[in-house]
Amino acid sequence: MIPLSLKEVAEACIGSIDGADPDAVVTSVVTDSRAAAPGALFFALAGEHADGHAFASDALRAGAIAVVARTDADVARAVRVRDPLEAMGALAEFVRARLRATTIAVTGSSGKTGTKDLTAAACAGERRTVAAHASYNNEIGVPLTIFGADEDTEVLVIEVGSRGIGHISSLGPMIRPDVAVVTNIGPAHIGMFGSLDNTALAKGELVEMLGADGTAVLNADDERVDALADRTRGHVVRFGRAAGADVRAEDVVLDGDARATFTLLAGNERASVTLRIPGEHMVSDALAAAAAARAAGVSLRGAAEGLARAHGSAWRMELHDVGGRRILNDAYNANPDSTAAALKALVAMSHGRPSWAVLGHMAELGAEARAAHDRVGRLAVRLGVAHLVTVGEDARAIHEAARLEGMFGGEAIFASTVDEAIAVLRARMEPDAVVLVKASRAAGLERIALALEVPE
Ligand SMILES: Nc1ncnc2c1ncn2[C@@H]1O[C@H](COP(=O)(O)OP(=O)(O)O)[C@@H](O)[C@H]1O
Ligand SMILES: [Mg+2]
Repeated sequence: MIPLSLKEVAEACIGSIDGADPDAVVTSVVTDSRAAAPGALFFALAGEHADGHAFASDALRAGAIAVVARTDADVARAVRVRDPLEAMGALAEFVRARLRATTIAVTGSSGKTGTKDLTAAACAGERRTVAAHASYNNEIGVPLTIFGADEDTEVLVIEVGSRGIGHISSLGPMIRPDVAVVTNIGPAHIGMFGSLDNTALAKGELVEMLGADGTAVLNADDERVDALADRTRGHVVRFGRAAGADVRAEDVVLDGDARATFTLLAGNERASVTLRIPGEHMVSDALAAAAAARAAGVSLRGAAEGLARAHGSAWRMELHDVGGRRILNDAYNANPDSTAAALKALVAMSHGRPSWAVLGHMAELGAEARAAHDRVGRLAVRLGVAHLVTVGEDARAIHEAARLEGMFGGEAIFASTVDEAIAVLRARMEPDAVVLVKASRAAGLERIALALEVPE
């Protein structure tokens, strides 16, 4: 973080200092009192379960310089503001304006976090790079990402989520991207957006923020993303498998672990890349990352070397070999596109071994929910998954669809709870089984993956 005096903080946040030293220097920003240390500034935010103001004294005891708190709060050392969340955004704007880094912002329906991680890896070999932690991508996560950069940062990679039209625009003054990446527009959260066109409207707000010297990195294989070229003043770089794409992949092959090797091409340059993260869909994310890294001045070779070193984030296509079995933990979240991609990766890495798809429901699909779960069940059968375990009432349509489809040589099992699914798996998994575990977070299927990752 760029060190700031408390006085500068108060000015940026339009707040007043009460009981704290205006010359004290803030060296970190936290929203969790347990992470507070000397030099920290603690923002008391209203969370889903608790109000940060209740932890203000814990943060101060741990050495925090001050708490950014509501005007009326009972806090010993405070920067008093009307709304701490709004103040955090204002401070992020102030800090962002001081950064010299090339800022790459990543949005899309699927693969934001993965593309963010791949972009950071692609840049890190040649540029001092700071990237969002985990899946930090909203009005709290974006400021925290910005506070993580300092004057020496050359590339800052920000993940940007959207909860609806206008959301990304509202984050614009703090993001101010030099490079805006849109991975894809798909049915993730379609229940909230209403339609794919609305999703495109919302995600496209990111490319509208670019100035004439900015670069929009757009997916040439996704027509709704490709069309966003009309909504930006920036230079457009297209990535994808499409022959006309500026940054593209040729000769994609998957190895026995479903890890992709391909030739990365841009202009007259080419480089070979082997990804560590399984799944053919990772090629698209890697192309987006390579295009973004190039826009930030990284060489194609440097980007390719970085991509080959990249590891995935927790619970996203995470491979565990346990005894003779293989567990593919993709339980972080799920939507129809990412579930299809994961099923294909499962089948690609099973070759001869019994495949198990353990699937829970995909959330926030609204009126599309039934049809989307139905398609997943049918796809599992068509791909030849040997055992399909559907977990939870909300996912039942997957099970029904698979049964209607006939399951051919395979079997469809329904488990009402996570514990029931664990019991079935423990009793039935062959010693060489390959098991994919995937659902939306709310389904809690990571518990299944974690249970299976421990040797019996
Ligand atoms: N290009 C893609 N198309 C479809 N699914 C993808 C793509 N990239 C990643 N995924 C899958 O989407 C899920 C979520 O990935 P993540 O990177 O966390 O996305 P987000 O941050 O957008 O939620 C994972 O299962 C991942 O394997
Ligand atoms: Mg994410």
